[in-house]
Amino acid sequence: MNQDDIVVSLFAGAGGFSTGFAQAGLKPLFGADINVDACKSYELNIGSACYPLDLSIADPSLLQNLVGGQKPLAVIGGPPCQGFSTAGPRNSSDPRNRLIFNYLHIVDRLSPRWFVFENVEGLLTSGGGRDLARLVREFVGLGYSVRMQKVNLASYGVPQTRKRVLIIGNRLGIDFEFPAELHSFDSGKAKKASGLPMAPTLDDAIAGLGPAATAKGAAVRYASSVPLNTFDALMRQENEAGSVTQHVRAEPAQRTQIELLKPGQTMKDLPPELWHESFARRANRRVCDGTPTEKRGGAPSGIKRLRGNLQSLTITGAASREFIHPTEHRPLTIRECARIQTFPDRYQWAGNSASIIQQIGNAVPPLAAQHLARHLLKLDGAFGSDLQAPRPAAAQLLGFVLTESSGMSPALQSTAMLLAEMRQQRLMFDACKTATA
Ligand SMILES: C[S@@+](CC[C@H](N)C(=O)[O-])C[C@H]1O[C@@H](n2cnc3c(N)ncnc32)[C@H](O)[C@@H]1O
Repeated sequence: MNQDDIVVSLFAGAGGFSTGFAQAGLKPLFGADINVDACKSYELNIGSACYPLDLSIADPSLLQNLVGGQKPLAVIGGPPCQGFSTAGPRNSSDPRNRLIFNYLHIVDRLSPRWFVFENVEGLLTSGGGRDLARLVREFVGLGYSVRMQKVNLASYGVPQTRKRVLIIGNRLGIDFEFPAELHSFDSGKAKKASGLPMAPTLDDAIAGLGPAATAKGAAVRYASSVPLNTFDALMRQENEAGSVTQHVRAEPAQRTQIELLKPGQTMKDLPPELWHESFARRANRRVCDGTPTEKRGGAPSGIKRLRGNLQSLTITGAASREFIHPTEHRPLTIRECARIQTFPDRYQWAGNSASIIQQIGNAVPPLAAQHLARHLLKLDGAFGSDLQAPRPAAAQLLGFVLTESSGMSPALQSTAMLLAEMRQQRLMFDACKTATA
């Protein structure tokens, strides 16, 4: 195996990130994740080992041994968001913080040319922004030039709006941009009209799957022998079976409510007497400042019927319970959720339904990962760079984009200030160095 094209996936899950990197021509050397089902799924599909390790305590030298002296092109992955403690940024004995430190220590040991760190947007304001600022400072301290951006993955062609924070770093001293956006998007909740073609819609994403089965474990043949659209064709690639698994309709408990829901509507749009008991309790809950959660806009909306002609809302571990099919009176099937996450139809999962939907909801969509991987390869020059010769520079925070909107919440403002200070200090340091040279 050429060490120029190997990647190691930390917090690898079922392998969404690795699938995209493999589709771009890279070689996932191995993954590591604490969840045994996720590791099994990874191995079933990626074709390399996934070690069931607790990365909060795993010694980085263990990972170094597994790499066996090779220098990976990239380390990919990101710890789960709970890893970002708000309990005090200097408390390195907090086991949740160890996830971040171990990620850093492993990157340090494996010394990849690039790392790609993915996380939820909550990371931006965790610990008043200090967690993120510290994380970036640590990456820079390891010698990486870093850029950070909040990206809606629909702009990379995923048929779902999914905001994620991406931190990319390289130890080559290369300044770089994030990959170009390819699509406009609109899920009703998040939208961006950039003049680019629309991302595939939910209808596009699930076209061709055929009617969902009623029996668990059944394989369902495609609706037609030829794909119904480009996205359908993409999903069918390498699925020689001509059928899919995990496309099974669940009999919903809330059938009356589901029948009343129109596309785009949620439980909140139904009369309160029809609200499910636990939904009513959560919707009326008051948070500590006395404001009902509903008034804060944060009330859970329970079941929601998605719109077929838009992109889906974000797929999470609750999607196969809460997201109702645009036209049928049932929740989405696991396979439909997998397609919206851009997992190809050949993908198989280990574990029960609850474990599988969690693995799917956790994943980096392979299509977005593929777009990132191709961009990295271009930057790295491994496939023949079309860039200007890189300007070597000392490791630094090259730039950050925390939001695309004109306004910022006070929480985001304090994060932006911390990061701007870091950049300012760097510029002053460089200016001093030039002056004394
Ligand atoms: C956001 S998911 C990553 C998904 C993955 N990147 C993908 O594309 O499929 C986070 C993963 O971290 C794993 N995880 C949580 N705590 C962990 C720990 N202490 N050690 C190793 N893995 C852990 C979870 O099991 C989960 O699979």
